[in-house]
Amino acid sequence: MKKDLLSINDLNKDEILELIALAQDLKKDPWRETLKHKTMALIFEKPSLRTRTSFEIGMHQLGGEAIYLSPAEIGLGKREPVKDVTRVIERFADVIVARVFAHETLTEMSKYTNKHVVNALCNKEHPCQILADLLTILECKGTLQGLKIAYIGDSNNITNSMVLAASKLGLHIAVASPKGHTLDENILRAAQENAFHTFAVIEQTSDPKVAVKDADVIYTDTWISMGEEAEREERLIAFKDYQVNMELLSHAKSDVIFMHCLPAHRGEEVTDEVMESKHSVIFQEAENRLHAQKAVLVKLFEEK
Ligand code: CP
Ligand code: NVA
Repeated sequence: MKKDLLSINDLNKDEILELIALAQDLKKDPWRETLKHKTMALIFEKPSLRTRTSFEIGMHQLGGEAIYLSPAEIGLGKREPVKDVTRVIERFADVIVARVFAHETLTEMSKYTNKHVVNALCNKEHPCQILADLLTILECKGTLQGLKIAYIGDSNNITNSMVLAASKLGLHIAVASPKGHTLDENILRAAQENAFHTFAVIEQTSDPKVAVKDADVIYTDTWISMGEEAEREERLIAFKDYQVNMELLSHAKSDVIFMHCLPAHRGEEVTDEVMESKHSVIFQEAENRLHAQKAVLVKLFEEK
């Protein structure tokens, strides 16, 4: 593995599969002293339930220590430039786990420290989430080969990381999103380059029914990501035909699983009925954040 995990594209196929295998192992045997005397600083510009908790508890289970710095605390880039914050924090911590707005904040951190930097979500990607999702899919489907994933709704950080992961692993991913909210061109290009080697299929459509046809996995996320609150009204209109409901699920395979990174907005991108249905694996998915991220931490320190 590279020094940092900023994007799914930082990992090759073997590294992704090794991380998932290690996560499975850690799930069976969670308490280890692998990272004893290692310290983690969590620097968050946005709120979090899952990411913060799973990283803090995960580090504790591995014998290390973690401290959390909230959005109000350090004023990243406002009270103090990113490059200064980074060079101070690296004097105390062995790994910086950062949740930020701009991806460039992460690349700047990476440039100014030899310590590890992990993307805990930025506007462009959420790689830790997607590693947990792949573990969940493997647990539910018994394989990561020959599967079709349908992603419905906003093409956002989750979509970007999932499309990149699918392209690395040779999966079929169909993204259904409305005009004006389609996949980022750079992500699409990077995914197509990966797909050239793996024979992954990356399909884009404006019709959710086309995307979910024969799907093994249906995935959605909020229509209004953190930082987009001012666009709420126009987004509710743009995405109104992209709700994941039981009718849409009926067009997928009968054993389709429903995934959502959470937090979910019932009545918007997904119905309560789908969230609570037998297809829903959302809490297994949330739990897997812990195991997948612990695997990332172990591997990062192993390779240094
Ligand atoms: N899925 C996810 O990253 O959740 P949090 O925003 O609560 O960390
Ligand atoms: N796309 C969402 C994911 C939250 C985990 C956001 O960025 O707010």
